[in-house]
Amino acid sequence: MCGIVGHIGTGDSADILLEGLKRLEYRGYDSSGIALLNGDSIFVEKAVGKLKNLTDKMAQHTVSGTSGIGHTRWATHGGVTHLNAHPHTSSDNVVVVHNGIIENYRELRETLSAQGYHFVSDTDSEVIGHLVVEKLKTYDKPAALLRAVLEELDGAYALAIITKDFPDCLLVARNASPLAIGVGEDACFVASDAMAMSEQTRRVIYLKDNDYAIIRQEGAEIYDGDHNLVNREEVIVAASPGLVSKGGYRHFMEKEIHEQPDAITHTLAAMTDDAGALTAGLTDEQLQQIKGIVFLAAGTSNYAGQVARYWIERLAGVPVNVEVASEYRYRAPVSSHLTHAIAISQSGESLDTLMAMRYAQEQGLSTIGLVNVDHSTIAREADAILPTRAGPEIGVASTKAFIAQLTALLALAIAIGRANGALSPDEASALHEEMKSLPSMVGKTFSLFDELRPVAHDLARVSSCLFLGRDSLFPIALEGALKLKELSYVHAEGFAAGEMKHGPIALIEDGLPVISLLGSDALAPKVISNLKEAQARGATIILFAAESVADDVDFATHTCRLPDCGEYLMPFITTLPMQILAYLTASEKGTDVDQPRNLAKSVTVE
Ligand code: M6R
Repeated sequence: MCGIVGHIGTGDSADILLEGLKRLEYRGYDSSGIALLNGDSIFVEKAVGKLKNLTDKMAQHTVSGTSGIGHTRWATHGGVTHLNAHPHTSSDNVVVVHNGIIENYRELRETLSAQGYHFVSDTDSEVIGHLVVEKLKTYDKPAALLRAVLEELDGAYALAIITKDFPDCLLVARNASPLAIGVGEDACFVASDAMAMSEQTRRVIYLKDNDYAIIRQEGAEIYDGDHNLVNREEVIVAASPGLVSKGGYRHFMEKEIHEQPDAITHTLAAMTDDAGALTAGLTDEQLQQIKGIVFLAAGTSNYAGQVARYWIERLAGVPVNVEVASEYRYRAPVSSHLTHAIAISQSGESLDTLMAMRYAQEQGLSTIGLVNVDHSTIAREADAILPTRAGPEIGVASTKAFIAQLTALLALAIAIGRANGALSPDEASALHEEMKSLPSMVGKTFSLFDELRPVAHDLARVSSCLFLGRDSLFPIALEGALKLKELSYVHAEGFAAGEMKHGPIALIEDGLPVISLLGSDALAPKVISNLKEAQARGATIILFAAESVADDVDFATHTCRLPDCGEYLMPFITTLPMQILAYLTASEKGTDVDQPRNLAKSVTVE
């Protein structure tokens, strides 16, 4: 969740680190800081809030350094304060940046305090610096020192350390949190995400869990968890897209909403050939071996899995479970009826999802990573990859990544059905042809930015609202509620419309907005009855309905007509208005649309 960067060698460390942090700000933006080592002096600067605050402070200094480390924080232990911001310094000699959680920090803190170390922050990370100082009393070689420190740490971490004792080195390590080394001409780099180093180098070495390394200007000395010196493969990552710009839009989210037709087109092209046969990840033979699936995912990615459950069970007759990734491995799940675990993750780095996938692997399931980021940890560890091609998603709220996930999952459902005979080739081709109409159909919903503005104006003034849907539109109701709450901080809950009468209907009082999704399918009459029940109790119905059934609800306060389409496309078509409504409501309230409070784009802690 936090992001770390490091540099050693030619070039000005300060500029390089700030540039890297800019690319990592999606990982957290509670505070940031950098430390520079120059000969015998260490310079540290930190700032609470967005990176800009640090950049402004740095503009007032004329410091330079030939090595340094930097950090952008998403607070876990300790509030958002200057003292809790990284880097953390010990004895004016050791500086540390850390991403993850040190689970045994209490014991370590007690021991180190008893040894006379003074703690100034509430963070778990501060123990690391003091531990380094303590171990420096015994160890005079960097690798031995780092090993001794790591032996004391339990938990998840990616960390980088500089010390005056070893001015020609960065000491780095990874366990469960991502970390990559960049190899340049006369310099080396380290970062939580290769994207942070992309201005400097495309040559990247991804560390594996429990690896630690001593990085010098001329290269990296890497050790595995058993302390063997190892050669990790160097890969060439794709050329940097440069710092992604807003391209004239007010927010990245607005831009990313508009990029969804492309996200669908590119994902479909990456997943299938023109006739609809799967070209990514799995052969026909492998598709036939899929007898039961568990989806592992968090947040919006989990809702993509929930939509896909309807599709795969219907189109391929294969049983599907959808698990909240953070719950899965702690409850002894029974997997005997399943053959495959599919981890869905935009970032490919969500720790909950990664750990769930590893657990599934241990249970003997074949694993598939459905990820948007090539070379992410999930992509590297899964047995097979299904790619989404949404492009870099910068807004913290998932938009185009979700649509790309739905695209890949519908293509997968059709492919499994075709391979196992649940669908005839003609039926499969017809569905694939329908999918090809998605980009233009999705594009038509952009006009809703104007239509939904008055609805958003009203929504920005309520404290609570409900989202209802049924069948494959139930997960879209959940997604609509998540988008609204994470962006506008309006309390919102999604329910299966038929479930209302079992309890949630008690929430309805005069004027409560109920955002209702309605497809033109066999369940439409039942959904309409559910909405009528809510309206009869005072709810204000805001309807998003397929054109052909929209007039069947004559009691809605606002009706948004969506293009008629087949039932499998309806989750796509209803997603856009949910995103647009949340975006407009947040804009109306003036919240930080791209970086909502308390959130981070990639969640690499449990
Ligand atoms: O990168 P991932 O897809 O694994 O992320 C999962 C969730 O953290 C993510 O979808 C989150 O819920 C978004 N903020 C939703 O907009």
